[in-house]
Amino acid sequence: MKFRSTLLMFVLALGFSGMAQATGEIVIKFSHVVAPDTPKGQAAERFKQLAEKYTKGKVKVEVYPNSQLYKDREEIEALQSGAVQMLAPSLSKFGPMGAREFELFDLPYLFPNQETLHRVMDGEVGKKLFAKLDSKGVTGLTFWDNGFKQMSSNRPMHKVADFSGLKMRIQSSKVLGAQMKALGANPQVMAFSEVYTALQQGVVDGTENPVSNFYTQKMHEVQQHMTMSNHGYLGYAVIVNKSFWDGLPAGIRSELTRAMQEATAFERETAQKDNDDALAKVIAAKTTTVYQLTAAERAEWQKTLLPVHREFESVIGADLIQNVYATAAQVEKEQAVTAKPAAKSDKKK
Ligand code: LMR
Repeated sequence: MKFRSTLLMFVLALGFSGMAQATGEIVIKFSHVVAPDTPKGQAAERFKQLAEKYTKGKVKVEVYPNSQLYKDREEIEALQSGAVQMLAPSLSKFGPMGAREFELFDLPYLFPNQETLHRVMDGEVGKKLFAKLDSKGVTGLTFWDNGFKQMSSNRPMHKVADFSGLKMRIQSSKVLGAQMKALGANPQVMAFSEVYTALQQGVVDGTENPVSNFYTQKMHEVQQHMTMSNHGYLGYAVIVNKSFWDGLPAGIRSELTRAMQEATAFERETAQKDNDDALAKVIAAKTTTVYQLTAAERAEWQKTLLPVHREFESVIGADLIQNVYATAAQVEKEQAVTAKPAAKSDKKK
């Protein structure tokens, strides 16, 4: 009896660690919640191809898109228990795991451009955030982009007052809750896989997402208005089960790291393009009116939303927020210097 239960535990442990015992092959189950033709979906496939090639078939990567295996919260629990080995959740979904600092990336109007974002995520801040995951049985590998978010609903949203009373779906982030409340809306946390139906049935009035997620989930069929607000950022952390990762042979781990670096370069290149393409498709579908904020309207949104930074200083850490401000200032300075000679040579012509 005792032998049987010990054997069962052993078999389960093998399964959980992603090792397919019979073939000696290592299996990585990579679960995610978006469509295959999004930046994350395509990069997961690219990682699969590269990982299988570089490890000469010793590793098999199985990609499960569209919440096929797990929804938002469940997938993180599945990673921690070892039922899947790899995920790329949005940075807004780490709070329930006890890593609220990741909500830095949710602060409205924090990142003025992509260069600032990448320096922050690839630098000290990214390292500090990944270090927070160790004690949770999770290892952070890299950050992937999606892009800046736009607001959608069935009501035009030009001025802040237009949000009054709107039920807006958000991810499980306190910062996003505070952002919607600052606008006068009523935030509702909901899994990504449920958003389309909730919009269709009027359970919520609107949502926020980069356009590639909006289009690939067909939200344009059920949202009449979208405002190009770029008010916040959506990105991902690619994470693995720590004991699975640490237990891999070193040579395999380094080939997987190489595959992930290349998949990351591909992902970051494709993300902006995918959002641009998706916007063209939304406009062509003619079911959603796309509105560009005027400078005065944007200034009003910013004035309303910037106090959320102070409100969350003690949760996220003032040092992390200050790091972003300083990086943004540095990037702006460098861009001004590189822009100058071009302006001069333009004049000569
Ligand atoms: C959402 O839940 O709105 C998105 O973060 C989904 C995703 O992973 O892009």
